Amino acid sequence: MIGTSPTDPPSEVPSRTVHVITHGCQMNVHDSRRIVQVLAGLGYRETPDPAGADLVLINTCSVRARPENKVLGTLARLRPLKEFRPGMRLAVCGCVAQQHGQDLLDRVPWLDLVFGPDRIPDLPRMIRELDEGGRVAATGMDDPEDYRFLEVDPSSEPGPTAFVTVTKGCNRFCSYCIVPFVRGREASKPLDLLVREVRGLVAAGVREVTLLGQNVNAWGRGLPGDPRFADLLETVSAIPGLRRLRFVTSHPADAEDRMLDLFGRLPNLAPYLHLPVQAGSDAVLQRMHRGYTVAHYLGRLERVRRACPDIALSTDVIVGFPGETREDFEATLALVQEARFDGMFSFAYSPRPGTAAARWPDDVPAPEKAVRLAEVQSLQDAISASRMARYRGREVEVLVEGPSRDATRVREGIGDRRGEVQGRSGTNVPVHFRSDLPADQVRGRMARVRVDEVLAHSLRGTLVQWEET
Ligand code: SAH
Ligand code: SF4
Ligand code: F3S
Repeated sequence: MIGTSPTDPPSEVPSRTVHVITHGCQMNVHDSRRIVQVLAGLGYRETPDPAGADLVLINTCSVRARPENKVLGTLARLRPLKEFRPGMRLAVCGCVAQQHGQDLLDRVPWLDLVFGPDRIPDLPRMIRELDEGGRVAATGMDDPEDYRFLEVDPSSEPGPTAFVTVTKGCNRFCSYCIVPFVRGREASKPLDLLVREVRGLVAAGVREVTLLGQNVNAWGRGLPGDPRFADLLETVSAIPGLRRLRFVTSHPADAEDRMLDLFGRLPNLAPYLHLPVQAGSDAVLQRMHRGYTVAHYLGRLERVRRACPDIALSTDVIVGFPGETREDFEATLALVQEARFDGMFSFAYSPRPGTAAARWPDDVPAPEKAVRLAEVQSLQDAISASRMARYRGREVEVLVEGPSRDATRVREGIGDRRGEVQGRSGTNVPVHFRSDLPADQVRGRMARVRVDEVLAHSLRGTLVQWEET
């Protein structure tokens, strides 16, 4: 396993532009940053305008049918652009690219390049082939021992928060999930590389780091000395200047006591845990190959709440899995009721080609899936509202990210927010408040804020004081 540093720009490179469209999860957001970083070494600058770009790249997601279809829509939209400017190159990468490879290139004649997530380091060679007039499909996957983690270039992460990959791939093979097929076998980033990366980011002004992986708890398997994820959290949290540490995603079967107990012990470990449960019926969990029972899952929540009573918890739920009866679904409602999550992402089951569950009849009709989805979401909305209410009148610690965005104002249906700044609480809730300093001077600073107003998905408050820097 080797760490590859970003290539220095060659001195004689033509200046070209790239526009990147990113679908899917944080893993893709992160990969898009790495792609831009590798392309910068080839003389490419990022542009917000697809119409003028020399290269347009779509980073895709195939976790459910709907996001997968989105790429075909985007490709159709970009077709006239390509016809207008034949010199423009169009590329698809990410999980759909990995899954369909050459097939996609054959089906979409106006597409030039298709490459999977493991092939990002090969971009220089692939771009050369495009320059020579070729069309390229590259979907080979690396063995975990040979996997090349790309080191983050701190200058490419200009904000106060950053993501750092700790594992790639997934070996769990939940029966519904395509991720192990499109992201390949699990590999852990070596500790020295990780520490160097986080130190570099902190030196560049990053205050909050989120460790990223499909199953971060698997970190350490296959590394010398067989370290555990808890060891990694302890090491990274001790890096001077790192104010907040977060991680996604944890798997309940691998969420060990030692890791959960750290929430009470490491002062900069943010009190927020995303722990996907997927279903509240043991029979369904078993068919999903999740490797835990409802009792085990609730035991994990109890343990982490004992360590850190105020922790915010969120989860993922799938409704309409093959064979899910009304009783199974009601068990999910009962679990959601008991767990009192702060937030939940819920999805209608979508069969994915090649997965174990795709061989079973997709027997919950689509309208019934929609009913169950609405039911579980409205239950959670009520619980989320009562969890949010606890913030009223409280003081929260906010890491300021910048000026309040208009989008929040529109979504929350509230009045004028100009002059306000926005950040997140340790529990991961967006907080807005009026700053006594210009927004560009407070980015990356921590503030204590008293909450005056609780909105559906955010808080609004009054500055109490800035933390000394
Ligand atoms: N690695 C993470 C998340 C993987 S994908 C984990 O293990 O939890 C994010 C979420 O998408 C999953 O948690 C699951 O709830 C949902 N999902 C995955 N495959 C799905 C499918 N075939 N149909 C519906 N939802 C799915
Ligand atoms: Fe998919 Fe399961 Fe791996 Fe998560 S743990 S990525 S749901 S196979
Ligand atoms: Fe989607 Fe791939 Fe992430 S399938 S959820 S973009 S790992």
